[in-house]
Amino acid sequence: MFFKIGNIKIHIEKDYNAMSARAADIFTEAAVKNPSGAYGFATGSTPIGMYNVLVEKYKEGALDFSQLSTFNLDEYYPIKSDNDQCYRCFMEQRLFNLVNLNKSNINLLNGETGDTSRECSAYEEKIHLAGGIVLQILGIGTNGHIGFNEPGDYFSGATGVVNLTKNTIDDNARFFENRDQVPRKALSMGIRTIMSSKEILLLASGKNKSQIISDTLFGRITPQVPASILQVHRHVRVVLDEAAAEGINNRLLT
Ligand code: F6R
Repeated sequence: MFFKIGNIKIHIEKDYNAMSARAADIFTEAAVKNPSGAYGFATGSTPIGMYNVLVEKYKEGALDFSQLSTFNLDEYYPIKSDNDQCYRCFMEQRLFNLVNLNKSNINLLNGETGDTSRECSAYEEKIHLAGGIVLQILGIGTNGHIGFNEPGDYFSGATGVVNLTKNTIDDNARFFENRDQVPRKALSMGIRTIMSSKEILLLASGKNKSQIISDTLFGRITPQVPASILQVHRHVRVVLDEAAAEGINNRLLT
């Protein structure tokens, strides 16, 4: 199903696999149109299926990463590069090592840096020099975070250090041996950085995302729901599975 809410284009797909295939098609269309652009990637459970499809498309010859550059949204801080929960490891395992990306075009925030402010401003500069992000992939936290921009009193600006909320630490504990091992901070593109992307593709899957998706699309624009700012971006697509869309259906029916 496809429809629009304000400026936002919404695709609702039957299940996780169909959501992943739709997202991969949207990415592929963009990458074929602009093969040397800068693309923003997310980690977490949600985009894994899409990355699997992108790898298949690459193997079939339908997708060429050789000229693309990539910028990941965020990285835990501090985290050692040999910790298998670091986002660099995630991206290498799921995508980067499986396609023909030029290693020098891969950009991630360094979770081991001793100088976070320099690291973050250099990242902003690199995005700028790459011509800005043409398509940014996003997941969404159950608290509405995008990147690691947590609910707060204001929308963040540039890339910087963020404190993870209890909610995010609880949600992400599933990836670590125990909750104590989840880093308490992260480096993240800011909301302004994300909003500067030409196009945004937000993915969500599962019933546990249905309330926040409904708040994001229909609720007040507020830094308490960071993703709600997407309502004022001109080129956003949201791809959901039916479970994540349940809140939208309820809203449209009432
Ligand atoms: C990850 C990121 C986060 C996740 C969000 C959802 O790079 O920036 O905003 O997209 O926490 O995570 P999952 O997909 O695991 O539910």
